[in-house]
Amino acid sequence: MTAEPIGVFDSGIGGLTVVRALMKQLPHENIVYYGDTARVPYGTKSPQVIREYAAQDADFLVSQGIKMLVVACNTVSAVALDIVQKRARVPVVGVIIPGARAAVSATRKKRVGIIGTSATVNSGAYTNAVRQIDEEVQVFARACPLFVPLAEEGWIDHQVTMLVAKEYLFPLTLEKVDTLILGCTHYPVLRSSIAAVLDPRMTLIDSGAAAALEVERVLDEQDIRNPSKQKPNLQFFVSDLPAKFSEIGERFLGQKMGRVRRVPL
Ligand code: DGL
Repeated sequence: MTAEPIGVFDSGIGGLTVVRALMKQLPHENIVYYGDTARVPYGTKSPQVIREYAAQDADFLVSQGIKMLVVACNTVSAVALDIVQKRARVPVVGVIIPGARAAVSATRKKRVGIIGTSATVNSGAYTNAVRQIDEEVQVFARACPLFVPLAEEGWIDHQVTMLVAKEYLFPLTLEKVDTLILGCTHYPVLRSSIAAVLDPRMTLIDSGAAAALEVERVLDEQDIRNPSKQKPNLQFFVSDLPAKFSEIGERFLGQKMGRVRRVPL
């Protein structure tokens, strides 16, 4: 058992939805978060650049004395998990495999949809993970890049978001998927608009929530849970000015976040 923090990183603010899921699942764990707000978005960049940034993000968190590392960013989990694992020296959990597992258990018709950034979709990481778990499952992927700025703008139940969701998701409904992986940190914030344009029987999979269950499993397996039952210590670091991160971040996190410090990489 150990009180050291769990490190969580993302390309920016979106990973706070994963922190929220972690806090719900593991309310006594200390967390240190790094959001690379100066270089977000990662989802439109090349795998090479994403791998370089991911290595720097991971190194910063390792320097903070973490006991475990969570790659909240779907894009990084899709194209750079191996590089993070090589540098971390602590257990690493990404969001792709937990999300894929949850989708395979949920689908009744063995037809799964996945939405994410262009880099995530182009990597084929979710499709490969699902097919590795159950090769009979058919996977249909669609990049939805406009969802990221809409979530950051706070247009949660907005008409424009609904229109964009209809446009993006219509092809997936034609494929008759019964389960949809929200394969991007920002999408849980838009869950109501996404659900509103889909069949009400569609199962939506939040890969961050699935990853939180995996984090719990690893903590137990390694016997490294925080023994303290005190209120946990949450620390937030970003690479650009903290003001906007704090303002929008509270919407993603679902609570006040306190002090945010700037550490450029
Ligand atoms: N955090 C990214 C993800 O989950 C979305 C934002 C970005 O493109 O950097 O894929």
